[in-house]
Amino acid sequence: MNGSARDGAGVAPLCALDDVPDGGGLEAAATILVLRRGDDAWAYRNVCPHFSIPLNYEPDTFWAYGGELVMCAHHSAMFRFDDGVCVDGPCLGARLTPVPIRIENRRILIDDGGDTHD
Ligand code: FES
Repeated sequence: MNGSARDGAGVAPLCALDDVPDGGGLEAAATILVLRRGDDAWAYRNVCPHFSIPLNYEPDTFWAYGGELVMCAHHSAMFRFDDGVCVDGPCLGARLTPVPIRIENRRILIDDGGDTHD
């Protein structure tokens, strides 16, 4: 999900865009995985749809490939950054649960659906 230039007053940021490794992932909150490619970022619940457990087993350690795919550390399911769909592995076609975000001033905010000020 791409960020937009909306006003985020009163919304706590998940993290700074630059905290997320370019082409990789960060555990921004206890159950939220943020993925980044350049100036784009996506957030998902860090719960693999295969066994309903986190994709990683070490804190902030996510196996990402080419800024396009992130792999579950348990049984190697591969999920696209862009839509969270599993494109290879034991839960083919399943999807990570998206967390709506927006990017404002290089901060990643949970998108609360508030008013836009574009
Ligand atoms: S728990 Fe993620 S692929 Fe099995």
